[in-house]
Amino acid sequence: MEIGSMDRYIKSLIKEAGHRIRNSFLTDIVVQSKADANDLVTNIDKDIEQFFISRIRKDFPGHRVFGEEGFGDTIEDLEGIVWLLDPIDGTMNFVHQKRNFAISLGVYQDGVGKLGYIYDVMNDDLYHAIHQGGAYYNDEQLNPLPETDIATSIIAMNATWAGPNRYVDHEGTIRLIRDVRGVRSYGSAALELAYLASGRVDAYISMRLSPWDIAGGMVLVKEVGGLATNFSGQDANLLEQDTFVAANSSIHQKLLTDYLRKK
Ligand code: IPD
Ligand code: CA
Ligand code: CA
Ligand code: CA
Repeated sequence: MEIGSMDRYIKSLIKEAGHRIRNSFLTDIVVQSKADANDLVTNIDKDIEQFFISRIRKDFPGHRVFGEEGFGDTIEDLEGIVWLLDPIDGTMNFVHQKRNFAISLGVYQDGVGKLGYIYDVMNDDLYHAIHQGGAYYNDEQLNPLPETDIATSIIAMNATWAGPNRYVDHEGTIRLIRDVRGVRSYGSAALELAYLASGRVDAYISMRLSPWDIAGGMVLVKEVGGLATNFSGQDANLLEQDTFVAANSSIHQKLLTDYLRKK
């Protein structure tokens, strides 16, 4: 399938999934915990992942799918075409707020991000990008990211990382919080990347993210000239959990060298 038809196919699939999620509020949602009491998952996260996978397997039999809830393939490399899917990013917001969550999807060919989608389900806002074809907020094309310096930047980051943690020297993080203009925390990595790509924040930082959290957003961020790496400056990890920093190109290096010192 050529890229334009695939883009149209994916948009309609995502809109249909969004419709299912909004309808799920009419029924009881079953909430469970995974790794710890605050790591939530619901029957809807699982249903939506299965919905995507059954369609992808039927219509793209040669493609592989890497999804958070484990209904897809076991992925150890990015050869061929791989769909990286987070059916609901921001499950805690989904459960507690019934808003501020997203569907996140990236389609990669031999490790190169070709298509990226972040769908803010309750606002019906779709952010998407086509590799070398531009990034969009609904029908509006997004501009290249502006240059900022640390003192005039707004960064998105979870407050947890300002305390002692095993990933980063938190004194560097606290200094960063003091040096920037403002800090925001939205509870969905995918939405935070969409806000970076659309210029509402200037960086997004996390000590621990999984491939499906970042795959869609990375296509968007790169398409508007942003950079995304781990804290060692290597390409962001699309095979396993890792540290993550995405930012406009004028502050990305400074964040790495001056503030995000790995333990
Ligand atoms: C989580 C959200 C959250 C981030 C966590 C992710 P989930 O994804 O993106 O903002 O801080 O690290 O695991 O579990 O809601 O899909
Ligand atoms: Ca989860
Ligand atoms: Ca996620
Ligand atoms: Ca999820």
